Amino acid sequence: EAASKGGYEHFMLKEIHEQPRGIKETLTKRLDENGRIKLDDIHLTKEDIENISKVYIIACGTAYHAGLVGRYAIEKLVKIPVEVDIASEFRYRDPFVDENTLVIIVSQSGETLDTLAALREAKKKGARILSITNVLGSSIARESDDVFYTWAGPEIAVASTKAYTTQLVSFYMIALDMALKTGRIDDAEYKRMIEEIKLTSGKIQHIIDQDSKIVEIAEEIKEKHNGFFIGRGLDYNTAMEGSLKMKEVSYMHTEAFAAGELKHGTIALIEDGTPVIGIASQEKLFEKSVSNMKEVKARGAFVIAIAQEGNTEVEKVADRVFYIPKVDDILASILTVIPLQLMAYHVSVMRGCDVDKPKNLAKSVTVE
Ligand code: G6P
Repeated sequence: EAASKGGYEHFMLKEIHEQPRGIKETLTKRLDENGRIKLDDIHLTKEDIENISKVYIIACGTAYHAGLVGRYAIEKLVKIPVEVDIASEFRYRDPFVDENTLVIIVSQSGETLDTLAALREAKKKGARILSITNVLGSSIARESDDVFYTWAGPEIAVASTKAYTTQLVSFYMIALDMALKTGRIDDAEYKRMIEEIKLTSGKIQHIIDQDSKIVEIAEEIKEKHNGFFIGRGLDYNTAMEGSLKMKEVSYMHTEAFAAGELKHGTIALIEDGTPVIGIASQEKLFEKSVSNMKEVKARGAFVIAIAQEGNTEVEKVADRVFYIPKVDDILASILTVIPLQLMAYHVSVMRGCDVDKPKNLAKSVTVE
């Protein structure tokens, strides 16, 4: 086992470090000689896409959080309404799905029982099924009409990291492909975005190289019992994933909130020293996010901000700031999650938890 960890202390850390490569594999191997996306196992034609009235994204756990980012990418780029649902909820809700619905199933393992059952339910109702999975020939892959394989490589740690970031890249690629086929994006913007996605790989590496800053932050919160992750728009989705990571591996009780919603109740829970991780990567929402950080700071929170380089304004409010490299708002989720993965990892190690096999959790849940 030590050998397969490649010199890393834990699989989770190894897999965090494998993300720049996972993204490169997922993206660059699917570009043709003209730099266009070539999706071998997805056969959606222009006409098919034009007939889609609605997209449903269905998944569990971390894959569900990837789906939330996927919704944003598809609505923004392809301009089709998207709903995202948790598989175990979708199954029993008698969802409104028909032949004009595209159902996107997201599952690292391709074997999660609730997700597989949701796939079958959607298929029964006539939907076309496109799955995003990391495991070749898995049940979900076999039962889908179209498949996108994330080329993250095997993920061993129970807490998902590299599967998540490659799922995000998959969504951007699927959305870009659908947008180009239907003329909803012009060629120049399409190419520019592919170049931007390519660059995220090096930017993730740059974040990982600053791990010592995250270790310092982890030291400051390692003994806390409660914490909050807040953000707006895409940053809210990242907050949900960051909070899940922290709970999964360190057992610290954290909750994610849409930053603007805090004042409607949750802010009552902020006490002196409560850690609040505020994600403020969205340039358009930056000032609003900073003002939400101010609100919690005024109530005694210990504020840790994640912002894009150059937005130093945030230092006036936050106790600690971690900067991610400059990136398009729409792609920021690929980067903002990295410091949160590292933070959860370090807090877990400092608390003496079983990082790779947290109590009560399984890598793949094949029961209801
Ligand atoms: C389990 C794992 C999670 C994972 C979820 C969905 O609960 O512990 O890390 O996100 O299943 O797994 P999947 O393989 O369907 O992506």
